[in-house]
Amino acid sequence: MKRSKFIKKSCAFVGVSIIAPGFLLESCKKKSSSSGPNVNFDIDLTATKYQSLNTVGHYVYKDGVIVAHTSNGFIALSKACTHQGCDVTYSLSANDFPCPCHGAIFTDTGSVHSGPANKSLKKYTVTKNGNILTISG
Ligand code: FES
Repeated sequence: MKRSKFIKKSCAFVGVSIIAPGFLLESCKKKSSSSGPNVNFDIDLTATKYQSLNTVGHYVYKDGVIVAHTSNGFIALSKACTHQGCDVTYSLSANDFPCPCHGAIFTDTGSVHSGPANKSLKKYTVTKNGNILTISG
């Protein structure tokens, strides 16, 4: 190998070695972020469409959000699984949010409990005033 060719290849290797850790750090950052739409809406718990939410263990979807009546109160998370976008559900027995498509499980904070998803669901603020739930975030 000619000297100039050796130097070019060496520089390319060093360049990749310096840049690669930056990519690795960036991919680590993405795992801790969350995903979901910005929303601000009300749910009337007396409306026929949402009456089921009065029972612990039930959940509804609205505007890209799953609103669940969990054993710890009302929880609202973005509904689209961060793996491939299927709608997550709520499991009262496990108190978590499983995805029916490939088995990812999210906690009630929206963080990933088990993959294949590697990005959290967005968690929304839920306030209750009488029979009205307000979901925002
Ligand atoms: S789309 Fe949810 S685990 Fe694949």
